[in-house]
Formats: sequence, structure tokens, C-alpha cells
Amino acid sequence: MPTELKILIKRQEIEREVARLARAIEHDYKDNNPLLIGILKGSFIFLADLVRKIDMPLEVDFIRLSSYGSQTESSGQIKVLSRLNEPVEGRHVLVVEDIIDTGLTTAYFIKYLKRKRPASVRLCALTEKPSRRKTDVQIDYIGFTVPDKFIVGYGIDWNGKYRNLPNICYIE
Ligand code: PRP
Repeated sequence: MPTELKILIKRQEIEREVARLARAIEHDYKDNNPLLIGILKGSFIFLADLVRKIDMPLEVDFIRLSSYGSQTESSGQIKVLSRLNEPVEGRHVLVVEDIIDTGLTTAYFIKYLKRKRPASVRLCALTEKPSRRKTDVQIDYIGFTVPDKFIVGYGIDWNGKYRNLPNICYIE
């Protein structure tokens, strides 16, 4: 059980960063009608806030992947728990993640996506932990680089809990 939660990134700081990412995405995609794909469950809050700040036509889909189960370390075994609904072929896809840690989940998903022949694939991650990377992942839009601590909140869980915290916190 976590003994204490400490704030790492305050909600106001997250809001400013999400707005900045939204402006960059708007600028780059212009009239390309991107398909934003959130990797569930962790991305649901970030994606919900991000799309409301992007002022242009876009579509949204989700895939549910899991690699952690109830562990704090990635198992490296990615499971597809629920599939995409929208066709990806020919679409400009922007993958939206809450956190890139080892990179294994995202690397798996980008490979999976590319087999479906999208027009382009980019990656937007609210947070990343470069110290933990086990595979090369190119992050096109990055919010915060975070230290190697177990972080929770704003969609990110510990054992299914704490996703509803408005700030990003770490467990001591
Ligand atoms: C978390 C997070 C990312 C992934 C990142 O998902 O949402 O998808 O881990 O870790 P990695 O870079 O080491 O692969 P998790 O498997 O915990 O599922 P969840 O999104 O349902 O919480």
C-alpha cells in the first residue's frame, strides 16, 4: 500500500501544457482531419481535455491495452483488451498516451497500427520517463519528462486506484 502521495505536477500546470500541445497539434494537422487514438485506460482524462482544446475537425477512437496488470513493473507482455472501431487505413493517426515508461506498450501499438496502413502515425504523450526506456519510441508531442518515481493521477493508476486525482502525484 502507498504510504504517502506527493504532488509532482499541479492541475494548473497540466492544463497549460495540454493547451500548448493542442496548439502544436492544430498547427501541424491543419485540415488533415486526424484520428486521435487513446490507449485505455490511462489516457482517458488527458484525451478528453486535449480534444476540447483542439479547434479543428478530428475523430476519436480507443484501444484498450494492458501490460502491467496489478504490478508496478511492465510485464512486457502486451494484451489487447478491446480493439479499435474506426478504420485506420489512409488516416492521419495521432496516438495519445498518458505515460511512456519502458515504451513497450506504445512500440507494440505503433507496430500493430502500421500494419493497417495509416497515412501517418505520430505519438503524443503527456508524460515520459526516459530513464526507464527499454525500446526506442519517437515521441512527437511530449508534455512532461518525469523522474523515475511511481506516478499516479490524471488517469494514471496504481492497482486501479488514483486515476481520479486532478494533480499528477507520486507515491513515496
Ligand atoms: C500504462 C500506461 C501506458 C503504459 C506505459 O498502462 O497507460 O499505456 O502503462 O508503460 P510502458 O511504456 O512501460 O509500456 P497500463 O498497462 O498500466 O494500463 P492502463 O492504461 O489501463 O492503466
